[in-house]
Amino acid sequence: MIVCICKSVRERDIRNLVDSSDGALRMRDLRDRLGVSSECGKCARRAHCLLKASVGAQTANAHAVSGKRAATGQSAPVVWSEPTVAL
Ligand code: FES
Repeated sequence: MIVCICKSVRERDIRNLVDSSDGALRMRDLRDRLGVSSECGKCARRAHCLLKASVGAQTANAHAVSGKRAATGQSAPVVWSEPTVAL
């Protein structure tokens, strides 16, 4: 699904950026790297919610890996949850 129409940024693009980072991303990073919210700004709320959910999922998976799976060498499944956005 498209998050930012102005820059043609998809949810997948944001998730991929979070996955490829250390999880310490902020909205400024989305703007600098993907162009999110750099034009009209209408995507800012949705992008922020998606960023929070993606970083949260990444953190939860990291905890699962360190707690259970690191010893076995298994990779943790990535679980993405859609944030609820009140408009
Ligand atoms: S929709 Fe993202 S800047 Fe316009």
